[in-house]
Amino acid sequence: MRRAIYPGSFDPVTNGHLDIIQRGCKLFDEIIVAILVNPDKTPFFSVEERREILNGVLKDIEQGGCKVVVESFEGLLVQYAAERQANAIVRGIRAISDYEYELQMALMNRRLEPSLETVFMMPAEAYSYVSSRLVKEVFQLGGNIDGLVPPLVEQRMRGKK
Ligand code: PNS
Repeated sequence: MRRAIYPGSFDPVTNGHLDIIQRGCKLFDEIIVAILVNPDKTPFFSVEERREILNGVLKDIEQGGCKVVVESFEGLLVQYAAERQANAIVRGIRAISDYEYELQMALMNRRLEPSLETVFMMPAEAYSYVSSRLVKEVFQLGGNIDGLVPPLVEQRMRGKK
């Protein structure tokens, strides 16, 4: 049983995240999408809302027999991964600019827990510029975010206005 953790803020989940989950499903039997509970950040959606949204959008995507569950976690990722007996951490890399930060985290996590592997995956080119931060910014300034996030996310964002 190969289980991976896909950690992140998912505030909100984008089509790029969903693309990575689908790709990860080809490599793992189970993916735990793990929302970081970060008391230092003021999020757009609460952790509970993000969990609900993720569960809602995951119902509609093809997962090819792999199990995808949504959870939230606090504290060290490696500790949470050990509790869940995960073999790997999945992270998406869009461009070289992501690489430096991701490499730093992967190596720190390896130092903390050498048995845990980090697997980097590339999303489809169409999502290579999509980030939760930019989606929020464009939305808040009245721009079109069609095709960047699932329709449910857009609907829930409109509900917040
Ligand atoms: O989507 P994000 O915000 O880029 O995700 C960052 C995340 C959640 C992967 C990272 O902040 C994290 O793992 N936080 C948990 C705390 C931790 O383990 N820190 C040490 C990482 S080297």
